[in-house]
Amino acid sequence: MRKQLAASPDKVWARPIFRWAGSKRGQVSRLRGLLPTKTFRYIEPFAGSACLFFATRPDNAVLGDINADLMQAYEVLATHPRLLAAKVHAIPATKRQYYKARRENPEKMLPLDRAARFIYLNRYCFNGVYRTNRAGRFNVPRGSHTGRVPDEREFYRCSVALRNAELRAGDFEQCLVDVRKGDFVYLDPPYTTARVPEEGQYGYQSLRSGDLTRVIRACKKIDEAGAHFVLSYHASAAVLAAFPTATTYALMVRRNVAGYSRHRRTGRELVVTNVDPRTGASPQ
Ligand SMILES: C[S@@+](CC[C@H](N)C(=O)[O-])C[C@H]1O[C@@H](n2cnc3c(N)ncnc32)[C@H](O)[C@@H]1O
Repeated sequence: MRKQLAASPDKVWARPIFRWAGSKRGQVSRLRGLLPTKTFRYIEPFAGSACLFFATRPDNAVLGDINADLMQAYEVLATHPRLLAAKVHAIPATKRQYYKARRENPEKMLPLDRAARFIYLNRYCFNGVYRTNRAGRFNVPRGSHTGRVPDEREFYRCSVALRNAELRAGDFEQCLVDVRKGDFVYLDPPYTTARVPEEGQYGYQSLRSGDLTRVIRACKKIDEAGAHFVLSYHASAAVLAAFPTATTYALMVRRNVAGYSRHRRTGRELVVTNVDPRTGASPQ
């Protein structure tokens, strides 16, 4: 631990369309320093707003997330960025319209309308939080200081990055089934601590605290396959103990995980990786 992670000055390809609680936007320039220099397949099984992916625009990628509505929005963003941007911009940014859109049943909507609704609600909700009730319905109140919906050009740039990505909605272990030598996997699972409310933080199917063991096991399998992994997690003794020979960087970050100020604090986060910091070499 205790190593410094240098920032990479390269320009980012695109900014993410989504506001996402737990986004690593502020760490992108440092995380990019850990990407392999040779051609590689990029895999991100906890994609969220996928800011590292959009900044990097890899030639060959797999993006996954348990949030099926998020992945559906990425599908439409990849294929119809301009139509989608127009649809989202056409929805009035009023409080009344927000709650009307929130009441709508996405399952009864056409794919383009469904994706537009998701992007709209994400933009104007409280702090980019995704939370659902027991019935799986989005229930986050409208926020303030949400910023604007990105313009059409930004939608288009994201679609260009997504053209080279396979999208896999579902649990991270399914997303990682075919990891092979030379792949690069960035894992940014939800933090499951006693302090952060788990239920519904990213929807009801989201990771629970017992699942950290599954994440650790997945990283070990990636390493055994001869692939790179980079894991972001809060400073946790369990994670440090699980990777005694890995390189670990400590970052001080302002966390905004659950979106509520009582859970927002400056904390120490870890970036754990099997990438050799001197050579950038594969583990095997
Ligand atoms: C911390 S966020 C990722 C943030 C992302 N790195 C970014 O910069 O926006 C964690 C993500 O994991 C997803 N997630 C939760 N449980 C999951 C699971 N079991 N399998 C796959 N994704 C899961 C959530 O939907 C959420 O988008």
